[in-house]
Amino acid sequence: MKRCMDTIECIMTRRSIRKFKNLPIEWYKIGRILECGTNAPTAGNLQDFRLMVVTDTDMKRQVAMASLEQMWIAEAPFVIVVLAEFVKTKRFYGIRGERLYAIQDCAAAAQNILLAAHSMGLAACWVGAFDEDKVRSICSVPDYARPQVIIPIGYPDEEPPAPAKYKLENFIFFHRWADNSGEVIHVSEEMIKDWSPKVERTLKKAKEMAVGARDRLNKKANDLHQSIRERFK
Ligand SMILES: Cc1cc2nc3c(=O)[nH]c(=O)nc-3n(C[C@H](O)[C@H](O)[C@H](O)COP(=O)(O)O)c2cc1C
Repeated sequence: MKRCMDTIECIMTRRSIRKFKNLPIEWYKIGRILECGTNAPTAGNLQDFRLMVVTDTDMKRQVAMASLEQMWIAEAPFVIVVLAEFVKTKRFYGIRGERLYAIQDCAAAAQNILLAAHSMGLAACWVGAFDEDKVRSICSVPDYARPQVIIPIGYPDEEPPAPAKYKLENFIFFHRWADNSGEVIHVSEEMIKDWSPKVERTLKKAKEMAVGARDRLNKKANDLHQSIRERFK
């Protein structure tokens, strides 16, 4: 299989896409995406979740209707429903397993799915706004499981601009709540340093081009000068 994009680039360029081309997705890509979902970290490695693939046109329409009528969901060639199972997590970790770990496991799987899809040139979107009982009934989900995330996937037919995200300093605390003690600035500086070889290379290139242009101009002037001198000899 073709190498996929670099992880950081994949994370930074992923977008929620809600418009898909009317193109089928190769099964090997679907398989890889599902495999990436199941490779997410899970509490105690219990892997207490399920991934339901929905490709049936009518079922996709019903899922879209149950998702507050977000009908664009039905336009995706395939939809994954991430479901928490709560059986092993509850048995092993009690209420914390049921209320937290099982849900976090699904979130980790969902993010893996989004990134895997993007890395293969596909588009996806996390859908959390849906009527749980309706989706449960459409997908014949038993009592001991709950649909957590719906992920429509397809080839992108839009390129939305990156939405505004808060800067690092708005997110990060160092050691104490509400304390970033200027240390975030060091992080930002280090990040810029990371880029500096690139910046240096660009500056060097620009300088070389400027020197080249100056040399070419000088040569032109010298040639002209020489030709005038020749003419008036
Ligand atoms: C918990 C959660 C629920 C979401 N539910 C929906 C949804 O129901 N419909 C939708 O169109 N997008 C939904 N989104 C996608 C967000 O709108 C999107 O991630 C956000 O606008 C940032 O855009 P980005 O993903 O391109 O960075 C959801 C995202 C999360 C994490």
